[in-house]
Amino acid sequence: MTPWILLFLLVPAYTLENWPSLSSILTVVQRSHRDVSKDVPNDQIGTFGVSLGTQLFARKDYSPDALVDFRNLLNVGTQTLMVDLYWNGATQIWQLCPAPYPANTTYTDDTIRLEWKGKTYNCDPSLTMALMVKSMVSYFGDTNNVLLVNIINLIINLKEIDFSTSNNGTVASKGDLSKYIPQTGSINTYGNSTLVDTFAEFGTLAFTPLDQDIFNGLRDDSFYNISGTSTPSVYYLAWLDLNRVAVRIAGNEVKDNWYSYNITETDKSVIFFPENPNAMMVASVTNETVLNECTTLLNNMGNIQTSQLVDMATKQHFKFILDDDTDSFNNDSYTRFISCGYSPILNAKEYSISNFTTGEDVRSQDLGAIINNFLARTFLLTELTDVDDEESMKAATRCVVFVSDLLSKVANCYNQYPYACQNISNPVDWFIGDDEREYFDAYSDACPEGYQFSVPHLLVELISMRNEIHKKNISYPVWVDINDITVNLCFVSGGPYANCPYQETVSKQKLVGLIAPSFVVGAVILVLMFLERFFRTNPIQTRRKTYWRRRVLEFNKLHEYEGVPS
Ligand SMILES: *[C@@H]1O[C@H](CO)[C@@H](O)[C@H](O)[C@H]1NC(C)=O
Ligand SMILES: *[C@@H]1O[C@H](CO)[C@@H](O)[C@H](O)[C@H]1NC(C)=O
Ligand SMILES: *[C@@H]1O[C@H](CO)[C@@H](O)[C@H](O)[C@H]1NC(C)=O
Ligand SMILES: *[C@@H]1O[C@H](CO)[C@@H](O)[C@H](O)[C@H]1NC(C)=O
Ligand SMILES: *[C@@H]1O[C@H](CO)[C@@H](O)[C@H](O)[C@H]1NC(C)=O
Ligand SMILES: *[C@@H]1O[C@H](CO)[C@@H](O)[C@H](O)[C@H]1NC(C)=O
Ligand SMILES: *[C@@H]1O[C@H](CO)[C@@H](O)[C@H](O)[C@H]1NC(C)=O
Ligand SMILES: *[C@@H]1O[C@H](CO)[C@@H](O)[C@H](O)[C@H]1NC(C)=O
Ligand SMILES: *[C@@H]1O[C@H](CO)[C@@H](O)[C@H](O)[C@H]1NC(C)=O
Ligand SMILES: *[C@@H]1O[C@H](CO)[C@@H](O)[C@H](O)[C@H]1NC(C)=O
Repeated sequence: MTPWILLFLLVPAYTLENWPSLSSILTVVQRSHRDVSKDVPNDQIGTFGVSLGTQLFARKDYSPDALVDFRNLLNVGTQTLMVDLYWNGATQIWQLCPAPYPANTTYTDDTIRLEWKGKTYNCDPSLTMALMVKSMVSYFGDTNNVLLVNIINLIINLKEIDFSTSNNGTVASKGDLSKYIPQTGSINTYGNSTLVDTFAEFGTLAFTPLDQDIFNGLRDDSFYNISGTSTPSVYYLAWLDLNRVAVRIAGNEVKDNWYSYNITETDKSVIFFPENPNAMMVASVTNETVLNECTTLLNNMGNIQTSQLVDMATKQHFKFILDDDTDSFNNDSYTRFISCGYSPILNAKEYSISNFTTGEDVRSQDLGAIINNFLARTFLLTELTDVDDEESMKAATRCVVFVSDLLSKVANCYNQYPYACQNISNPVDWFIGDDEREYFDAYSDACPEGYQFSVPHLLVELISMRNEIHKKNISYPVWVDINDITVNLCFVSGGPYANCPYQETVSKQKLVGLIAPSFVVGAVILVLMFLERFFRTNPIQTRRKTYWRRRVLEFNKLHEYEGVPS
């Protein structure tokens, strides 16, 4: 998981998110988060996730009305979506509604109230998984540009409507099932009879096990692929292959009754099943093993063995953590699981959150309030406050330091601090230089042979860096390689010359060519609007820009670099 990001302390925390739209700051945060880990395998990247059963259908019913909030969830950057999909043995189709429709049901474009096994559901049969897939495809079309492109993990729990006729699970007969085959109307025309059909609309937007096979044959071994099951990077998937989604089965509760679904080889070629070596792990907050491992890891900073870090980085894929009503996330537990390398999935009905109006802690079932509370916590934020005087970012504070295990701030690049160097061939091996240097020197020649001045790109890299800082008993602040010297608020790594990628995009024909042609103009305008907004609201900008330009030129001269960053 990417560990650092930027945010204004000037802006009160609650304006960070603004369900159902996204504040421009959080947009920047999410984009930076994506970009800093663009080149590491997708299975290591942390995401914000929700379970649709509890967050959507329990609130809006199983009705097409839910698609509005579904799209809102995608718009705010929800990258993991968990869905329960039910096999209806009577109609032989996959449906979202957990209950079957009785034979005498009539359907008039409305939700139907269904009693099933002691629970009540309101279901509209026209809300199918295929319809949600369609909605996602439309979202992918709208976000097919360098600014917004991202990758979605669609996690499916396969379930089966239980038709057994008694408590001891007696298998239903043909006669039992016929009571649940609607006789009139169009109910039976909704839904698909195979998994591959259900997700067919994704087409080449889906990254499939077949793609994984090709990819395995294509790429050289890299550090993160020690166990031989690495997935491609976000860059490879979203930019080069335009794969925006992967469908992964978390659990399969489909039985082998005569009316049950038989998973086919074709299904397995487009969907990742748990037995696939590239499968994911969905842990529960109630799993003691997971809790203990997490606590041990965090308490053991300074003494974690390199082999354990290597295992975390290379043997664990797509680690998700799911809460429930008995143990729902709160701010602390949410952050703790993220610090241990898990991507949380919100799965409880109700959460303890702060009411932004009153400042009091409340139990809330309001989807917007819940998203507002947790979304920004998915990122470890860099406060745009000056490390020295706690005031908001000043003209000279353009470089980033860690000031504690999980908090980073901006500092004057000429301040002298220890600095973080990463082993070029082993990203979980760090060297912390304890002689104090300026950011510029840390970048140019401070790190020992085989190491380079760097920033953690994933959570496991952050854990490794923290471990090294504790091991050597170095006190914060510590420089990492991030700055926004060349373009205000476009934070990049790669030393003082690193260009803002969105500037490059505008001129680099090749990259632009990979993006949907109709969007090229849009992307350019968006970048300008985005930059302009900050320029306008920031009166010291002009002076600051000249100041830094001069500084960088001086630095260039000193170190005999060619070229001037624009
Ligand atoms: C359908 O039949 C059940 C009994 O099998 C009955 O309780 C229910 O009211 C009927 N529903 C409609 C809409 O006629
Ligand atoms: C299950 O219950 C049914 C009646 O409810 C009975 O006829 C059958 O023998 C039971 N089967 C088992 C395996 O206990
Ligand atoms: C899946 O079902 C929907 C109707 O619910 C239908 O429009 C679509 O064509 C089906 N897909 C395939 C591949 O059969
Ligand atoms: C991962 O390593 C295995 C062998 O260890 C190799 O066959 C495979 O091509 C590599 N895959 C990637 C994605 O690098
Ligand atoms: C699945 O396969 C089993 C055994 O091959 C068969 O009895 C059953 O009818 C099949 N189910 C469906 C839904 O086709
Ligand atoms: C708890 O998580 C561990 C993996 O960390 C897994 O092996 C185990 O099966 C899980 N236990 C339960 C009850 O799910
Ligand atoms: C939880 O975090 C949010 C911001 O992410 C903050 O506004 C809220 O006050 C925190 N709640 C508690 C109970 O600390
Ligand atoms: C917060 O408090 C205000 C005023 O009491 C109330 O109107 C609002 O519904 C509360 N919001 C949540 C999410 O509890
Ligand atoms: C970097 O890591 C590699 C692989 O673990 C190791 O062989 C090498 O010695 C390390 N480099 C340095 C300079 O320690
Ligand atoms: C770590 O440094 C602090 C002061 O910076 C010192 O008090 C402490 O004894 C040191 N601990 C070790 C284990 O060196």
